[in-house]
Amino acid sequence: MRILSGIQPSGALHLGNYFGMMRPAIELQEHGDAFYFIADYHSMTSLFDAAARRKNTLDVALDFLACGLDPKRSTFWVQSHVPEVTELSWLLSTLTPMGLLERCHSFKDKSAKGIPVNHGLFAYPVLMAADILLFDSNIVPVGRDQKQHVEVTRDIAAKFNEQYGQTFIIPESQIRDEVAAVTGLDGQKMSKSYGNTIEIFGDEKATRKKIMSIVMDSRTPAEPKPDADKNLAIQLLKLVAPADVSADFESRLRAGGLGYGDLKKALFEHYWQHFAEARARRAELEKNLDHVHGVLRQGAEKARAVADKVLTRAKQASGLG
Ligand code: ADP
Ligand code: TRP
Repeated sequence: MRILSGIQPSGALHLGNYFGMMRPAIELQEHGDAFYFIADYHSMTSLFDAAARRKNTLDVALDFLACGLDPKRSTFWVQSHVPEVTELSWLLSTLTPMGLLERCHSFKDKSAKGIPVNHGLFAYPVLMAADILLFDSNIVPVGRDQKQHVEVTRDIAAKFNEQYGQTFIIPESQIRDEVAAVTGLDGQKMSKSYGNTIEIFGDEKATRKKIMSIVMDSRTPAEPKPDADKNLAIQLLKLVAPADVSADFESRLRAGGLGYGDLKKALFEHYWQHFAEARARRAELEKNLDHVHGVLRQGAEKARAVADKVLTRAKQASGLG
């Protein structure tokens, strides 16, 4: 069973990325043939700073390895190191109805907000379909916001199979309900593009400040809070603290007597503790960048061997070459 997922190097990774996608993906490496990549081509649709892209790409690699991606089990590479994906993207684009792309949130939301949209952003889901289909992927672990893109991939794959004969495996998304959408500091979905994130490897002082400044309501500490489960700090605590600890805080908040300041302090402490080991691993990896580059190089070679076969299959099926 092949498992595949990707993440864009468009900024520092955060708790939404971690719990929504990275942790499930890392856990899945025990259960199948895991293929994970850094989607640097995709990042070009919204990030136009070359130096930032280079830095972010290395940062994502460090983050993933520090969080437990094991290069002995998983194939891990940078998308643009296997450029065959752009060729497959062209083949797929010719069978992709405009209407299918026009309905995609990634494009619709940005254009509705008046953000200038480029063709790459419009065609983004086709490149993502190529990412998935090029490696005969069965399962795609992602957060809920990516489900639509996997649906588009399924449509395109089915169309290709219908037109040119059985060529592609139809993949399925895998979304963990409990972490499908991690909420950000402002109550919206946590996202790099909303500036409402808690970074996985944020600076200690800055992150403490961010957490302590989460806005709460004006009820006094003594007041019982029957809606304690809706409290953002409780929701985040459930992710980073052991279950009995978060349950205890939740019932104290519900009963009344727990102040928001104490709750936020606990959230910071558990967050810091949760990533302590990974933080130490990341510091080690940073001292050994040759190793990191080596992992990515080897990953690209392994990925390419699979990509070549599938691309050849698709070209033959469609009368190319
Ligand atoms: P961002 O919105 O911060 O730019 P990406 O779109 O790069 O994040 O998402 C990378 C991966 O992380 C995707 O699989 C996405 O579904 C997941 N993800 C991002 N934000 C969240 C969130 N708030 N909750 C759950 N999963 C998320
Ligand atoms: N679009 C995904 C995101 O923004 C990243 C991505 C690119 C991806 N190609 C993929 C995810 C293929 C899964 C499979 O999060």
